[in-house]
Amino acid sequence: MDFNEHTATEAVQNSFSETPDVRLQELLNTLTRHLHAFVREARPSVQEWEQAIEFLTAVGQTCTDTRQEFVLLSDVLGVSMLVETLNEQEGGTESTVLGPFHMVESPPRALGDTIDLVGEAEPCVVSGRVLSTDGTPLPHAEVDVWQCNEKGFYDVQQPGSQPSGNGRGLFRADAEGRFRFRTIVPSHYPIPTDGPVGRLLKATRRHPYRPAHIHFIVQAPGYMPLTTHIFVAGSPYLDSDAVFAVKQGLIVDFAESDDEEAAARNGVQAPFRHAEFDLVLSAERAA
Ligand code: BEZ
Ligand code: FE
Repeated sequence: MDFNEHTATEAVQNSFSETPDVRLQELLNTLTRHLHAFVREARPSVQEWEQAIEFLTAVGQTCTDTRQEFVLLSDVLGVSMLVETLNEQEGGTESTVLGPFHMVESPPRALGDTIDLVGEAEPCVVSGRVLSTDGTPLPHAEVDVWQCNEKGFYDVQQPGSQPSGNGRGLFRADAEGRFRFRTIVPSHYPIPTDGPVGRLLKATRRHPYRPAHIHFIVQAPGYMPLTTHIFVAGSPYLDSDAVFAVKQGLIVDFAESDDEEAAARNGVQAPFRHAEFDLVLSAERAA
């Protein structure tokens, strides 16, 4: 069979016919079908295809131990969010993108500790409970958090000026599933624009900003792990997140409080901000 426009897809799919892993074969066959359909429809010139390969090469070459440009590409194309949404667990807190900044392990911290190692911005208390979908508290659930500072930078982006582990903490909820930590209110920020993904945004006149948020990965034995954020109510860019990750149910009020007693109880100075919300996990399904 000659390789031509009409036989190409079948020829490539046939080449995968001996793949022992059935799921891998299905993924490769579907990828081939859609990739070939794209080429047939868009009809890139040889030069355009070379440019596409050069772009993807640059994406790979921009990756380092602390930078993941491929994740960023998947994010700005809405693919990360589509994968999250299609895998959403019913009844639990909505999930959203992992993002490229969970690259280092969060330092273990005690409940009530601060993740702000600098202490120059308005203090904030974040608290809530980890629950199952029927409202049962999940004792000792693991709550991993990471966020940028009040200027919009993660510690890994400013290794010279931010202490490592700033804005990060690995907490264990108490026996009633409660968690609580001190921090500062994060800022909205631009995703990294000094690489090929930034050039893509510029060429398409898209802004690079994300609304202010705190990241969470929550885990408890017998439950599906949850990767999500809470978004700061009123933040700029809630309606035009560069990575399409906002869900209305994840927007939380970071209320101002000048209650001296509550401040003292939480180990902060008034005035302070307080965000309170529950994180709900779905039970693992039996295999
Ligand atoms: C983040 O929130 O850390 C993030 C997510 C997607 C792209 C860039 C940053
Ligand atoms: Fe982030």
